[in-house]
Amino acid sequence: MRTKKWCGILMVLFFFLISANGLASPSHGSKAPKKVGILLVAFGSSEASAQVSFENIDKKVKAAYPDIPVHWAYTSHIIREKLAKQGKNLDSPAVALAKMQDENFTHVAVQSLHTIGGEEYHDLRRIVGAFKIMGGFQKIVLGYPLMSTQADMERIVDIILKTIPISRKKSDAVVLMGHGTPHPSNAFYAALMFQLQLKDSNIFVGTVEGYPDVELIKSLMLQKKIKKAYLIPFMSVAGDHAKNDMAGEESDSWKSIFSKSGIDCLPILKGTAEYDDFVNIWVDHIRGPLSHFE
Ligand code: CO
Repeated sequence: MRTKKWCGILMVLFFFLISANGLASPSHGSKAPKKVGILLVAFGSSEASAQVSFENIDKKVKAAYPDIPVHWAYTSHIIREKLAKQGKNLDSPAVALAKMQDENFTHVAVQSLHTIGGEEYHDLRRIVGAFKIMGGFQKIVLGYPLMSTQADMERIVDIILKTIPISRKKSDAVVLMGHGTPHPSNAFYAALMFQLQLKDSNIFVGTVEGYPDVELIKSLMLQKKIKKAYLIPFMSVAGDHAKNDMAGEESDSWKSIFSKSGIDCLPILKGTAEYDDFVNIWVDHIRGPLSHFE
């Protein structure tokens, strides 16, 4: 984590030093002609299904903002390294922004494709902040992740209720698996569960790495004498966590833990980025930064 942060900051400084566009251009008199761009920033994934989702997001963003060029960056160093070995070169946010600066973009809407404003999102905020201080763009604004405002939360509750398989009976549980984080924004997961339960008391939200954890979700289901649960990832991509930690055969997967307590599990391996309704939230959030450019 630390090394990653420093890498990002050093990258920014490096491009600042080598870039003739840094602080130099505004002092050369006339203001550069307005050129607006969008930078989409995902955690990244090496999953084939994720590539399909990302292409879908790309298509939707271009359809919503047809005159604005769209660039991409991945925040995960590990994923970028993995993809580089397959010959696919993805930029980090700092490198992508340095390139956009070099291509004379003046206004950049950086859109986070994260789920909550956790560590990855705040790392991205720091990069955007560094570019702001550098003054290479006239404006650079970061858009909110998927679940940020109360309006987002209400939209997400409706989408979840809508996407639950029709085969599910009211007595069956629906367990969403969020990522979870030590970051304070982890509280969003319990808040989402509360709001879902106001509409359907058998929907639960747990996380792999934060609160509520799997043991708590299990005990809540046992209290309600749940016999069957649909397991659904609440992450943009049904990657490693969904396949292994949620639906895997290992004894510590959620499926195994719940099954051992007599709860039949039906995992659904589909990430939020595979549903247009969720994607539309991210697409709509780009309007936030763009509204600052008018
Ligand atoms: Co993880």
